[in-house]
Amino acid sequence: GDATGDFGYGKIIVLGEHSVVYGRHAIAAPIPLNVRAEVRPQDQDIDLLIPRWGVEMRFSEPEGKISSLHESITLIAERLGVADRGMRIDVFPRVPRANGLGASAALAVAVIRAMARAFSIEMSDREISNLAYDVEKIAHGTPSGIDNTLATFGRPILFRKDNPQARAEIRDLATSRPIPVVIGLSGVATLTAQTVGNVRAAWQKNPARYEAIFDQIDGLALAGVDALARGDIAELGDLMNIDHGLLNALQVSSWEIEELVEIARSNGALGAKLTGGGGGGAMIAVAESDRVEGVAAAMRAAGYNSFITEIRS
Ligand code: PMV
Repeated sequence: GDATGDFGYGKIIVLGEHSVVYGRHAIAAPIPLNVRAEVRPQDQDIDLLIPRWGVEMRFSEPEGKISSLHESITLIAERLGVADRGMRIDVFPRVPRANGLGASAALAVAVIRAMARAFSIEMSDREISNLAYDVEKIAHGTPSGIDNTLATFGRPILFRKDNPQARAEIRDLATSRPIPVVIGLSGVATLTAQTVGNVRAAWQKNPARYEAIFDQIDGLALAGVDALARGDIAELGDLMNIDHGLLNALQVSSWEIEELVEIARSNGALGAKLTGGGGGGAMIAVAESDRVEGVAAAMRAAGYNSFITEIRS
């Protein structure tokens, strides 16, 4: 039934995507969309079923080219020491794929939790998040670690990635009241690996120029902690608008995201920006609670999917 199984959470990045890859702070929050997984031991073979995505795989009969999904599940089974066991893995994603909402990390966390449960393996949240990070590296190259962290912990955090001296900094964030958020979907797959690669190429050509942009975004994320704590939506909105301008400086937005941002701002949002990797994907807007319906409706009227959620600790 629907109540059983293990979960990984989808997420939004409120402030700080891209600069987080360069060791700056970012704020992320879970969304009510998640991925649920169930694992049942069986005599032989590993079967993976994701009906929603049309995936039906038997691992002993791989297709010509091994997909990154196959590689991901194999890595999880190997790390848990159960790669030679038979199991049926059912995955039920409620996070839209490739939208910058963290579906791949949520899937990894759900499968890790379900597989560990099926074979009675004890794992801490840190261990689950670290394994999901290694899984994320298969498809994403150089992830900051924010997606797997949110997918595991599922609460608003201030995040800064590992540096050689320390583990990732993960601080729980307090919100004095729920902050209403509208998520707009561009309908175009996000190109996280590509936009992260483009930013890296630009940074390599002129490190000082880009480090200065990353420092500015870092300051916005840190200011966002106080805005959330005070429940100051107008201030948070200002920070998001400025961050979106800096993300434009990094050239990671898209035509559709720009349209959604304009629609949000001209229909009562106090701030709007892209969220996640960009190049497509999703955007977020904050507004007072009596304005969110209007913002979401205006997005739908322009042909985009939108939904309403909130940031709450
Ligand atoms: O597009 P997503 O949901 O994978 O978010 C990526 C966030 C980035 O900062 C662009 C990359 C990263 O690894 O942090």
